[in-house]
Amino acid sequence: MEGEERIIVRHSAPLRGEVQVPGAKNSVLKLMAITLLADGEYTLTNVPDIADVTIMGDLLAAIGVRITRRAGDELTMVNAGEIRPVAPYELVERIRASINVLGPLLGRYGSVTLSLPGGDDFGSRPIDMHLRGLEAMGAEFRIRHGNVEARAERLHGADITLEFPSVGATENILTAAVHAKGTTVIDNAAREPEICDLCAMLVGMGAEIEGAGASTLVIHGVEPGSLRPVDHEVVTDRIQAATYLAATAITGGEVVLRGARAEHMETLLRRFAEMGMTITDLGGSLAAWSPPGRLHSIDVATLPYPGIATDYKPLITTLLSVADGVGIVTENLYPGRFRYVEELQRLGADIRTDGHHAVVRGVGRLSGAPVRAPDIRAGAALVVAGLAAEGETAISGVHHVDRGYDDLVGRLRSLGADITRD
Ligand code: EPU
Repeated sequence: MEGEERIIVRHSAPLRGEVQVPGAKNSVLKLMAITLLADGEYTLTNVPDIADVTIMGDLLAAIGVRITRRAGDELTMVNAGEIRPVAPYELVERIRASINVLGPLLGRYGSVTLSLPGGDDFGSRPIDMHLRGLEAMGAEFRIRHGNVEARAERLHGADITLEFPSVGATENILTAAVHAKGTTVIDNAAREPEICDLCAMLVGMGAEIEGAGASTLVIHGVEPGSLRPVDHEVVTDRIQAATYLAATAITGGEVVLRGARAEHMETLLRRFAEMGMTITDLGGSLAAWSPPGRLHSIDVATLPYPGIATDYKPLITTLLSVADGVGIVTENLYPGRFRYVEELQRLGADIRTDGHHAVVRGVGRLSGAPVRAPDIRAGAALVVAGLAAEGETAISGVHHVDRGYDDLVGRLRSLGADITRD
């Protein structure tokens, strides 16, 4: 498209220096949603400056929460008790995490009308597990005119076994259960650090939750009206951290990632070490050194946490595309999430896909070309690829990257990357 913004990356020298990793998109959006659970003023810190925070803010403002972005990384949110539990299509369709208002609104107000969230560019994203879990707690759903209409007198505790540890379903059931009568047990719950962050803020608000980070979550419901607002610091983004690690690895650099939490990225760090990286946990930061020669190829399969996240996959595929040897990447969460492969091929990568698998044969060098980001993570991976490609790589579809990355270009430039936006 003419006049469309692009990120321009040129082949870059090894990255060096220190970079601060921002707060996690996939945590802050959920933390914003739980301001619906108690009236009063909340302050979130370590909030990333990303488009999805603005979109989620618009949705919550339409429902009745006042939001002010302060200087720096602070967000103040005021729930003055004037909530209208309706989430309109124009806002819901812009962001998947809009589904996260369902649990809090249903648990507290007993009724919600929410436009059905759409899919993503990498495939359909059903919410059947969210609805089945809430139904087991007494909710009734009707799908009409593209809306989910949910009702419940007062939800009651239930034993719920998820057939898959869905992040969104775990969050919605959890945030509804805090106000349910009795105890809810979620088996096969998602265990991501962002779920732990959500539990930590809920507990700070007065919720009674056991098992955060384990696959069984136990929630003892409290009386509606007994939760209170809190201030909370958003957990650091392990996916943005992985992006700076990948950028370091592909340029042969040495970088310190301030704020990165080794304990949230253990499996990934082990796999980076197998590729040849040396990574040291400095306690709240990570130091990463690249090997002298090429990275080694590895095989990876995406899995729910603590496995390798699907959101890391485009970055790993990119590293494999220049590594020594052949690596097989298997996608177990979103079968359609290989669209960026065609873009990497435009840069000279040797990748064959077959169903859920991609076979990546490392090539000596990539060569810059115009490419398009099909989604957030793929966009970041194309930026990383561009750092190692001869000449210039011009990435369009930048709005995807802006949804989840807080100043990716500025941060990479501060480490010495040859990168700009035009
Ligand atoms: N699924 C169902 N039914 C459901 C729920 C999920 O079939 O009721 C399927 C999904 O279609 C998908 C899989 O289960 O195939 C995983 O879905 P999950 O519910 O775990 O993911 P999510 O909550 O929709 C979050 C992140 C994604 C991340 C996934 C997996 C947010 C806002 N999104 O999505 O992040 O890929 O978990 O870790 O937290 C991103 O940040 O770019 C992104 C896509």
